[in-house]
Amino acid sequence: MPKTVVGISGSLRNGSLNTLLLRAAQELAPADLKVEIVSIRDVPLYDGDVELEHGIPAPVQALKDRVAGASGLLLATPEYNNSIPGVLKNAIDWMSRPPADIARVFRDRPVALMGATPGQGGTILAHAAWLPVLRTLGTRTWNGPRLMVSRADTLFDQDGRLKDETLRKQVTSFMAGFAKFMGA
Ligand code: FNR
Repeated sequence: MPKTVVGISGSLRNGSLNTLLLRAAQELAPADLKVEIVSIRDVPLYDGDVELEHGIPAPVQALKDRVAGASGLLLATPEYNNSIPGVLKNAIDWMSRPPADIARVFRDRPVALMGATPGQGGTILAHAAWLPVLRTLGTRTWNGPRLMVSRADTLFDQDGRLKDETLRKQVTSFMAGFAKFMGA
C-alpha cells in the first residue's frame, strides 16, 4: 500500500511557482509515496462568529479529514513580506479549530516544508516563520535538507514541468528523505 501525503500550495494563483514545485514533488516522489494535492481556495476567512454559529465550514472539515487520514503533510509556501502568506496561515488556522481536534489532525503528523520564489532568498524567512506554528500544533516537522528555491521563475518550462536537472535531483532526494522520515 503506497503511503499518502497531502500537499498544499500556499498560493491560489494560476501558474503559482509553489504549486509547480508541489507538482514536481508529486512527480518525483518515490513510487510508494503518493502526493495528493488539495486546494485551499474554498477556505473562507477565519471568523469566530461563523465558527460559533455554524461550526467548521465544510471545505475546512474536508481538508482536516484528508490530513488526518494521510501519513504526512507537505506545505509549499510562498514568502510574503518576509513571512507566511496569509491564505495558507488562514487555512491552517481554520484547520486548528476546534482545539480539541488538533491532536487528530496535527499531533505527531510528519510535515515537510518547501518554498519557491522568483527572488534570491529562497523563502527562508517564510520557512522560519512556519516553525513556531508547527511547534504549537505539535507536528513532527522534518528537519532534513531544506528545499528552498530561488529564481524559481527560470526553472520550469512552458507546460509547468520542472526543467532544471539540478533541482529535479534535489526534489527527488528531498521526497525520498521525507518518505524515509515517515517510515514509508
Ligand atoms: C511577495 N514576494 C516575495 N518574495 C520573496 O522572496 N520574499 C518576500 O518577502 C516577498 N514578499 C511578497 C509580498 C507579497 C504581498 C507578494 C504578493 C509577493 C514575491 C513572491 O515570492 C512571488 O509573488 C511568488 O511568485 C509567489 O509565489 P507563487 O504565487 O508563485 O507560488
